[in-house]
Amino acid sequence: MSKLPVLAGILVAGALIAPGLAQTAAPLSPLQIIAARQAAYDMSSATFIGMIHAVKGGGDAKAEGDSAAALAKWAKVLPTLFPAGTGQGQTTAESKAKLEIWSDRAGFDKAAENYIAQTTKLSALAEAGDTPGFTAQLGEVKNACSACHKDYKAR
Ligand code: HEC
Repeated sequence: MSKLPVLAGILVAGALIAPGLAQTAAPLSPLQIIAARQAAYDMSSATFIGMIHAVKGGGDAKAEGDSAAALAKWAKVLPTLFPAGTGQGQTTAESKAKLEIWSDRAGFDKAAENYIAQTTKLSALAEAGDTPGFTAQLGEVKNACSACHKDYKAR
């Protein structure tokens, strides 16, 4: 028996199944996205404060490597969690995301890029075991948080 009909059968089955699979990967709802980014900010905040306490208590930057890497990782994901329609007052969720995020997307993306750069640098300093540099860089990260909040987060 030729293998061709079998192969054809597999291809047809694949074509029938594939659209079904695409449908099961449902996109996140606006409420899920808002909840995810708020949880990410809370975790980032706790991680950030934990690093400050660690160095204030005489801790070594090297020991903060995992925390700094995690913060930098989240920094890269966060700007993707602001799709249109997820701002303050646009859903039933209590969001503090100002509508300026979308009316001035370039400015928001710039603030997000700066945050990525500062946290990536923090992670590199931890990796290098440069405790004075790491401690100073924590201040730069704080400035990056505040700069974005000033323009894009409601009080
Ligand atoms: C690029 C902009 C940006 C940067 C950078 C940023 N934030 Fe935010 N942050 C926001 C926005 C916008 C919200 C509001 C999100 C919402 O409510 O939907 C927010 C919310 C928060 C919240 C409240 C979350 C909640 O549960 O409602 C905390 C805490 C927070 N940020 C801490 C930080 C800390 C700490 C940093 C720096 C380590 C930081 N953020 C960096 C924009 C930013």
